[in-house]
Amino acid sequence: MERRDFLKSAVVAGVVLTSGSVLAEESKSEPQRLKSKDNPSALEQSHVPVVEVSGKAKAGQWTDVTIKVGFMKEHPSTPEHWIQYIKLLADGKEIAQTNYPAGGVAPSNAAFKIKLDKSVKLEGIINCNLHGIWISEAVKVDVA
Ligand SMILES: [Fe+2]
Repeated sequence: MERRDFLKSAVVAGVVLTSGSVLAEESKSEPQRLKSKDNPSALEQSHVPVVEVSGKAKAGQWTDVTIKVGFMKEHPSTPEHWIQYIKLLADGKEIAQTNYPAGGVAPSNAAFKIKLDKSVKLEGIINCNLHGIWISEAVKVDVA
């Protein structure tokens, strides 16, 4: 094999490997949802986040939003098992994110202050280092 042919095949192999890993990453990143409110699994209880809004949202004023992991049982924070990030979405768009260091040194919740000018649907997305990505149920916030 000439050097040029070798380089061509090396480049093609690299592209195939790259696109394969991108596909694997995308399918892994699909958030998991609560399947049944009546009978949540142990993993769902401690991983499905819940979005809580304090008080009534008023246009142009700060509103406190907390995302807790999980909705029934607090997610453990240990050196081997922790929450890597918590994201806040408004009408499906990410508007805030908190990243946590490795090792379970941070609590499994995040507090945000947001300003709204119209009613929105808020959701939380979290990533556990062992159990993957989870999304909350949507919370509708009416702005006065
Ligand atoms: Fe976990």
